[in-house]
Amino acid sequence: MPQESETRTVTAERPGAAGAPGAPAPGNTRRGVLVGAGLAGVAGLAAACGGGDDSSKDEGDGGGSAGSRPGGGNKALGASSEIPVGGGKVFEGEKVVVCQPAQGQFTAFSAICTHRGCTVGSVSGGTINCPCHGSKFKITDGSVANPPATEPLPKKTVTVQGGQITLT
Ligand code: FES
Repeated sequence: MPQESETRTVTAERPGAAGAPGAPAPGNTRRGVLVGAGLAGVAGLAAACGGGDDSSKDEGDGGGSAGSRPGGGNKALGASSEIPVGGGKVFEGEKVVVCQPAQGQFTAFSAICTHRGCTVGSVSGGTINCPCHGSKFKITDGSVANPPATEPLPKKTVTVQGGQITLT
């Protein structure tokens, strides 16, 4: 009988809290339990509603952040005229190397060497060259042209519009 044990608990608290010699009539005790149960139900609903409000606020914040990410992710690198045909340029700050294997054809890769993580230093002779241990990567697809690196440079995405290169 779980209800009986709850009733006894409520009855025991009331006289102590009020300080008055209460009349522990069975009817009063039951009302107390019912009111308490009702309040507990309301409290439960309020908590549920509060949680709903919080989650909706979070969704709003998340939407704002998501909306600002694409704008923050795009980074202007400079003029496409800075990239020589058959060569490329290393953007050290962005850790990106942009190449132009053929007129108007641009490729971009991570500038972090896949051998030990140095930043590649130059682009010449059709390859992206790492100064640390001599690895070379092809400007056409980032694949290894000369070891010790064994993995290609990861590709990056750039757009060229109006003569400006943007890292996306
Ligand atoms: S870190 Fe580039 S060749 Fe070793």
